[in-house]
Amino acid sequence: VLIDWDETAAEKGGYEHFMMKEIHEQPKAIADTFRAYLSDETDGKKLDYRVDLAKLGLTDELIQSLSGVTIIGCGSAYHVGATAQYVIEDLAKLSVRVEFASEYRYRHPVIDPNNLVVVISQSGETADTLAAMREAKEQGLKTLAIVNVIGSVIAREADFVLYTYAGPEISVATTKAYSTQLIGVYLLAICLGKARGLIDEREEQRLLAEIAALPEKVQRIIDDKERLQWFAAKFSNAKDVFFIGRGIDYAICMEGSLKMKEISYIHSEAYAAGELKHGTISLIEDGTLVIGVLTQSELYEKTLSNLVEVKSRGAYLMGLTTSGNYDIEDTVNFAFFLPKTDEHFADSLAVVPLQLLGYYLAVSKGLDVDKPRNLAKSVTVE
Ligand code: G6P
Repeated sequence: VLIDWDETAAEKGGYEHFMMKEIHEQPKAIADTFRAYLSDETDGKKLDYRVDLAKLGLTDELIQSLSGVTIIGCGSAYHVGATAQYVIEDLAKLSVRVEFASEYRYRHPVIDPNNLVVVISQSGETADTLAAMREAKEQGLKTLAIVNVIGSVIAREADFVLYTYAGPEISVATTKAYSTQLIGVYLLAICLGKARGLIDEREEQRLLAEIAALPEKVQRIIDDKERLQWFAAKFSNAKDVFFIGRGIDYAICMEGSLKMKEISYIHSEAYAAGELKHGTISLIEDGTLVIGVLTQSELYEKTLSNLVEVKSRGAYLMGLTTSGNYDIEDTVNFAFFLPKTDEHFADSLAVVPLQLLGYYLAVSKGLDVDKPRNLAKSVTVE
């Protein structure tokens, strides 16, 4: 029997697209990245987790001299930075600012010499990110790169490198690299918090145990993908979609919106939920899809009331929230529930259904999922 089995199909490991394969590789990529930075004291037992970034050069002494953190990236890497801002500020009480690399490099930033510059890049080759990092180095700042491609320019030039272990990512739309970058920033936040005396051993173990549990929870979400496929089929003709959330949920919205527009070519916007009423709400018409992300319990009621507002203007609602918040079903038309986790790490779970939604929308429109028009995997020109 002759089997028509070309090389690319083989590389896709039975999946129709690299993107779907890479979505499925996330539990392993997350676990691999997490395990790479556990200290030698950890013997794999649940209650013995310790994270150690001193071997990267991030010593307690260096951390204690920091006045703040500046995070730089482009595209999805910038979105990881947006989540990192909330996580680091909360766990380490250090002030964090996040910037597009293309803005940072040209705006003559007022540099605080005691800032740590964290550069996030899957490829380690993005021109703007590299230039921004060089600018920071020239100003005498210490740079930590969170990079996936080993030996890439950014990895070579940074003072410290935290590699992510996503493995090669082929699909232009990032999924597993994004998920591993999140793990990198969680571990960084914990180390910063520890060195600053805000996280004790017990709390460290609790947080790390929560991270250790993420792969299995991501897998459970992936196993539920048919529900998202069904939902996507109903909205493949959508013209505009709005994502709303607050805090980390807003950062998640930005990535969910990017995933949707880059591969399904549906116009979408992410809005900080409280900003809606300052303009965007005028765009809501009968049937406009609004996706609310509500993983942060402190902000749940606030965002829920924003969903009620757009519903009364005719919006069709999807709610993405944590299991247990079943009252959301009284408001939204379609609810998707995520496993519970420590809320600092909610992005790792919430992004997965949004990746799947973007994917299924693109597939239902017959688009080239892995190679969307006009986009490149790595942008090495300015
Ligand atoms: C391109 C890709 C995005 C990516 C961005 C940054 O625009 O299409 O998916 O987030 O570059 O890439 P980097 O390799 O620096 O993470």
